[in-house]
Amino acid sequence: MKIRELQDIIVKLKKEKNFLILAHAYQATEIQEIADYVGDSFGLSQQTARIDKQNVLMCGVRFMAETVKILSPEKHVFLANRSAGCPMAEQMDKEFVLAVKEKYPDHSVAAYINTTADLKTVCDVCVTSSSAVEILRKYPADKFIFIPDCNLGAYVANQIPEKQFQLLQGGCPTHARMTAADVLRAKELHPNALFLVHPECKPEVAKQADFIGSTTGIMAFARSSECKEFIIGTEISIAESLSYEMPEKKFYPLSVNLVCQNMKATTLVDVYRSLNGEGEEIFLANDTMQKARKCIDRMIELGE
Ligand code: 13P
Ligand code: SF4
Repeated sequence: MKIRELQDIIVKLKKEKNFLILAHAYQATEIQEIADYVGDSFGLSQQTARIDKQNVLMCGVRFMAETVKILSPEKHVFLANRSAGCPMAEQMDKEFVLAVKEKYPDHSVAAYINTTADLKTVCDVCVTSSSAVEILRKYPADKFIFIPDCNLGAYVANQIPEKQFQLLQGGCPTHARMTAADVLRAKELHPNALFLVHPECKPEVAKQADFIGSTTGIMAFARSSECKEFIIGTEISIAESLSYEMPEKKFYPLSVNLVCQNMKATTLVDVYRSLNGEGEEIFLANDTMQKARKCIDRMIELGE
């Protein structure tokens, strides 16, 4: 079957079966095309709060499906591919964070949304890459333990010098792969391009950027910029989507290695099968959902 034929079947099926399809911006183009909403982690959380369908299919990674379930416990929430996890989300567990909290009892725990539901139960406030600076500036505390991404944490700490941050050794293996040498090479190849980067990259990479922002932030910057060429320092899908959207501009991925295998685990066939009852339904204990929801609700309130 051709991709377009399968897409047509999926569009019909999702209406018949009352499904809303959410896709992160790192998903493959053919999946983004059949989704009802495509966005960054913060946008996906905001959409979740407004869902009117009974069934939700997440094309992304596990913590994103868990966030939907926590915000809409009465809905049936499915993850399109059960092996799509986020390695960063699983780097720290509750016991570890509780031990760090004991060391810094006057600190609040700020959790990147890329954390498991279980870990969120011991955190005070959630953030995403697009909302972290705004939220932690507003949040009524001056000292934070920031988990798990030390690169995003370093970026946020830099933007809010009046507050204190304890960073731990966690991060995104895809973004952490990028080095200052990759930036040098890309800038030599494309001397007229602006360099747009995600804050999950290492400081040695981020400090060379013309703009630092979330996936949606990078896309918005590229749309409004007068510049015609951009080096994109985040998962390869963003350069691809921008190229389709604005073929008159040129988008170069910082490196061809910038592929998140977890985000790319989901295929259009997985979406089709999920709509036919083969997706993994997300179930979380009520107690976990209630406790984890507090820090997500704070994020949504402070981010709006
Ligand atoms: P954003 O969607 O917040 O830009 O985060 C990128 C990411 O790595 C999601 O897993
Ligand atoms: Fe996790 Fe990084 Fe992949 Fe995002 S890009 S899902 S943070 S591993």
